[in-house]
Amino acid sequence: MLGTQWGDEGKGKVTDLISQDFDYVVRFQGGNNAGHTVIHGDTKLALHLIPSGILYPEITPVIGNGCVIDPKVLIGEMDKLEELGIQTSQLRISNNAHVIMPYHRDLDGAFERRLGANEIGTTRRGIGPCYQDKAARTGIRIQDLLDEHIFREKLETALLEKNALLEKIYDLPTYTVDQIAEEYLAYGDRIRPLVCESAQMLNDAAKAGKWILFEGAQGTQLDIDHGTYPFVTSSNCTAGGACTGTGIGPTGIDRVIGVVKAYMTRVGSGPFPTELYDEDGKTLGTVGAEFGVTTGRPRRCGWYDAVIVKYAAEVNGLTDLAVTKLDVLSSFDTIKICVAYEADGKRYENVPSQQTAFHHAKPIYEELPGWKEDITGCRTYEELPANARAYIERLEELAGVPASIITVGPDRDQTILHGWKTRQR
Ligand code: GDP
Ligand code: IMO
Ligand code: MG
Repeated sequence: MLGTQWGDEGKGKVTDLISQDFDYVVRFQGGNNAGHTVIHGDTKLALHLIPSGILYPEITPVIGNGCVIDPKVLIGEMDKLEELGIQTSQLRISNNAHVIMPYHRDLDGAFERRLGANEIGTTRRGIGPCYQDKAARTGIRIQDLLDEHIFREKLETALLEKNALLEKIYDLPTYTVDQIAEEYLAYGDRIRPLVCESAQMLNDAAKAGKWILFEGAQGTQLDIDHGTYPFVTSSNCTAGGACTGTGIGPTGIDRVIGVVKAYMTRVGSGPFPTELYDEDGKTLGTVGAEFGVTTGRPRRCGWYDAVIVKYAAEVNGLTDLAVTKLDVLSSFDTIKICVAYEADGKRYENVPSQQTAFHHAKPIYEELPGWKEDITGCRTYEELPANARAYIERLEELAGVPASIITVGPDRDQTILHGWKTRQR
């Protein structure tokens, strides 16, 4: 299960909804840049790092090797859940996931400031700098937190470079080994019982016939390879990331669910052809309550972009769509769908291969009639107004993928199962 747009498609809700069918729910990339909302009873929970399956004690939530972990945030999230009476001892953390260090957070902010008007608009959680160290093979992994000698040795090497960067280039305070070691080794002690060789554990589980749900963070257009580079995150949010980020081979994956909002949103900078600056955009933002879960920033809003979702269907090999927030469109007389772009006098049926063309691509819309009635109480496909069904059918047609889940409100039960069969294999 993954995002098909620019994140915030409603992955948390969809995971929460279908996770009851699974034995494991696994995050495979990203870190606490994610903000996944799940409604637990009367409480609205924002999860950043812990998989949304945590709400069910019989499910094993796993943070896979492809993730980057800020241990302070992880422990804070665990404590918060425990306070709410939600058990966290079943959580498992990959020994090979990388650790977000204090200097990663500092450098994330510093890189952004250096870019000025060209900033990416990152969440400033240290995600990019942590993945940078992973790729440079100088990163610190979760297993290193469990071995004081190794941790101090790696930290000392890292600080030689990071302190120079912080001080000489960015004019920021530096760190000592002792300062960080004291804090981070204590985190290591706290999470020690949860750390495991997760690839082995998951493969053993798969062999034993257990069901595993991979919970993507961010979205296809934020993928480092397939997204709107450089305005992306630093990991593979697309389906392949579920393999590299967990150690399960591609033949072990049966279905790929693409979560797709019934319109588009984006936080941070970068191209967004269907972005609206008018009253319609404001309505989407207000009715959809489009504010970032992690940073609180208002999300940019626009009409549905079928070009982008068709691309997501291809690069992820989607088998199902989960269309979310259909209720938000109920207030419009007519609803637009972008079916192609125009740039420099040329029509594009697919995402333009040249970044600059995508930056100034103008959407070519088709217009569908709205339904103008409250659909938040609909629980079957037949209960939806004919125009809402026509909208869904057009999205299915344009993506070439069936919409087997449709959501009409934030609560777990505000969902229409339209062909999604529980425990399907
Ligand atoms: P995620 O990052 O993909 O998990 O999505 P977020 O949690 O960041 O943002 C999705 C927001 O939409 C959350 O506030 C959800 O509670 C809300 N939401 C999810 N599904 C629906 C829906 O069908 N209708 C409405 N109105 N809100 C929804
Ligand atoms: P979920 O999982 C929306 C965006 C940031 C920025 C870019 C890079 O809730 O869908 P980063 O901090 O990752 O280096 O920022 O990616 N971004 C998200 N946007 N939802 C998210 O997560 C995001 N995680 C990162 O706004 O544009
Ligand atoms: Mg989110």
